[in-house]
Amino acid sequence: MKGVILAGGLGKRLSPLTKITNKHLLPIYNKPMIYYPIETLVDAGIKDILIVTGGHHAGEFLRLLGNGHQFGLKHINYTYQEGEGGIADALKLAEHFSDGQKIVVILGDNIIEKSIKKHVVEFNNQKSGAKILLREASDPQRFGVAEIKNKKIISIQEKPEKPKSNYIVTGIYMYDSQVFNIAKRLKPSGRGELEITDVNNAYIKMGNLTYNMLDGWWSDSGTFDSLLRASNLVVEGAKKPSRK
Ligand code: G1P
Repeated sequence: MKGVILAGGLGKRLSPLTKITNKHLLPIYNKPMIYYPIETLVDAGIKDILIVTGGHHAGEFLRLLGNGHQFGLKHINYTYQEGEGGIADALKLAEHFSDGQKIVVILGDNIIEKSIKKHVVEFNNQKSGAKILLREASDPQRFGVAEIKNKKIISIQEKPEKPKSNYIVTGIYMYDSQVFNIAKRLKPSGRGELEITDVNNAYIKMGNLTYNMLDGWWSDSGTFDSLLRASNLVVEGAKKPSRK
């Protein structure tokens, strides 16, 4: 399986920190944010990685990461998202790279404690469709929220005012190659973006979306509070002997 890290966007919620750099290059404790999703994929056994970036500071990724030798990689692939089309729009740029294979997609601002290896292995054995990783949160209205019945996700709402559960969709998604046709058919949401939640809802309609619960801590880092929270969680984790 191949890996895709979505690291574009203008990071407006973190302005002025993002005025002169890309959000994913900001520090989480002692490393740039983008290091964490790369390490998550490498730990899961994924060596073929595409970074989708955009905005005004895309060149800095190359300067920072090069060919990824510090992660044990031989090579990193890069592509550039023009404009602000949303997560599902950025994902479309991975079609050529994926070359018909299944992909693991991770949002570049998602920082996690534990390995996702077992989930990736499970999805590798899943014939077709998609798998997402959920977790419980006390502030579900900030995220995609899954409605679950009889152990199946029956719908996902993006940032609902009245969440139907506390189960939020983390930014770790696994897709088969149908994802690109789904993404191409999407219409922009109210905020003018192609939503990853609409991609996942399309898989629900096809009866082909599975999920696992993500264990250990998890944080996004796209707001001041979550950026600080992610750093604090990493500091705590650094005091423990292993991240697995
Ligand atoms: C995005 C997704 C949302 C998901 C979240 C996880 O939100 O749209 O469904 O729960 O990532 O980090 P965003 O960070 O774009 O607000």
